[in-house]
Amino acid sequence: MKFFIDTANLEQIREAYDLGVLDGVTTNPSLMAKEGIRGVENQCKHYVDICNIVKGDVSAEVIATDYKGMIKEGEELAALNQHIVVKVPCIADGIKAIKYFSGKGIRTNCTLVFSVGQALLAAKAGATYVSPFVGRLDDICEDGIALVGKIVEMYRYYDYSTQVLAASIRHTAHIIQCIEAGADVATCPLSAIKGLLNHPLTDAGLKKFLEDYNRVNG
Ligand code: G3P
Repeated sequence: MKFFIDTANLEQIREAYDLGVLDGVTTNPSLMAKEGIRGVENQCKHYVDICNIVKGDVSAEVIATDYKGMIKEGEELAALNQHIVVKVPCIADGIKAIKYFSGKGIRTNCTLVFSVGQALLAAKAGATYVSPFVGRLDDICEDGIALVGKIVEMYRYYDYSTQVLAASIRHTAHIIQCIEAGADVATCPLSAIKGLLNHPLTDAGLKKFLEDYNRVNG
């Protein structure tokens, strides 16, 4: 399973990259706003900065919600760097835009996906990734991980090449559940990725190894 980090924070992206396990980055307008990135020029520069750190797929989201606007923005974003994946919301014009981008060889991430039907449309349009939002479904007492599993199963059954990118991951247990559901990618906060390292038996075992070493070696 590939790991993407879900942030626009350069420091966190660098930290995850330095760990040696980072395959890409996802951003969205809320995450960009959180970093205080204002204006198209600064946003474009920020995406390029992210690409230069991670050298893997970087999702950059269009703001337009109409077909023509999405095409214009998406083409501009894709031209910024070879690693850019154009993130498009799962609405009618978005599906049309994904179909257009797919024909032009521009990679896409269909975002804000909350049902198997939406995931089917994204795959038929030729999306590179589809992003079911796990945490936001859990927030309304639905089962986000179950949706990931259903999309994975549907794509395998019909042999779609669209990759299932589990998004809105909130904690480490979600990552483990994504592995079990067969997600191709999980995009996670840094804290959730680092949480995978935590095990009391690792800490206790390492402490004992070092104590024994030092007892004999002084
Ligand atoms: O990639 C989408 C993700 O950022 C949404 O996460 O926690 O805002 O639901 P969240």
